[in-house]
Amino acid sequence: MKNIDTTLTQTASTPSSKPATDQFYEDVIAGLTAMPKHLSSKYFYDANGDKLFQDLMNCAEYYPTNCELEIFAEKTADICEAIIGDGDPFDLIELGAGDATKSTYLLKYLLDHKADFTYLPIDISSNVISYLNITLPVTLPGLQITGLNGEYFDMLEKAASISNKRKVLLFLGSNIGNMQPGEADAFCRKLRDHLSPGDMLLVGFDLKKNPKTILAAYNDKEGITKRFNLNLLERINRELKGDFDLNQFEHYPTYDPETGACKSYLVSQVDQTVNINNKATISFLKDEYIFMEISQKFTVAQTDKMASNSAFKPVHYFFDSKKWFTDVIWVAE
Ligand code: AVJ
Repeated sequence: MKNIDTTLTQTASTPSSKPATDQFYEDVIAGLTAMPKHLSSKYFYDANGDKLFQDLMNCAEYYPTNCELEIFAEKTADICEAIIGDGDPFDLIELGAGDATKSTYLLKYLLDHKADFTYLPIDISSNVISYLNITLPVTLPGLQITGLNGEYFDMLEKAASISNKRKVLLFLGSNIGNMQPGEADAFCRKLRDHLSPGDMLLVGFDLKKNPKTILAAYNDKEGITKRFNLNLLERINRELKGDFDLNQFEHYPTYDPETGACKSYLVSQVDQTVNINNKATISFLKDEYIFMEISQKFTVAQTDKMASNSAFKPVHYFFDSKKWFTDVIWVAE
């Protein structure tokens, strides 16, 4: 049966929380009045941002998606058998599902092997969730799906309130790299607090590799990454009545092989002021930057440390043929 009308919006499920635009406005103002200025990369993903990220995944330099796709295509059975375990029914909950291309390999196998599960994709983009709710039941007949639109932990609590089956979380794409290292540890702890012993987390990490390969992935020749970053300024213009002049900001990506931190900045080309909603005026000096995003790269040892710091035990490692990326199954202890 098709389950098209099951999108649960953040406002519908958590009536006490603020409307999304208020939160967006608050976060933007807080970030742009802070020292140094910063914006949250979670706001990259409006309809335009989703489209730009799709383009990025298809561009030659951006390797992480292809590596992880290879893992999901080549190791489908091994991953699924590890997830199925003794065969108890489970909820397969994906944090930041995107277009679910990778998880579709798992969903297909699980359906073909009559696994008893419900798929609950969570995404901050309402665009993504309505797309999944409509298309997946068509491409994957028999799939039980409930899309959840909102913040990860709000939606995890929502998921726990509608089902008490064991949980298998998917956190793919090295999305964990978008957190500062300390935040990532805290995030995993918090995930663990939402799980019971024996529940699983399948988490993707982009691994350290030749620094040139990494930097090129965030500095593609076509300039898609640049537009992906600038799109957030455009989104502020559109949704929050801002007047950013996109031509006056330059994309500046960096990668530090020592720390594994890959960072993106937008650098103001001139002294300028930006108005937001006639309420806030933000001044930029020439060469002042906005910190836009971190995409942290890891060693396997660092991922193991992160697991033990947050009461998980790594039990299976899956690699692509180049060993540029890993998906690891962690079991909650
Ligand atoms: C979607 C978080 C995995 O950090 O590599 C791609 C986003 N940013 N290019 C990443 C992104 C710039 C991407 N993730």
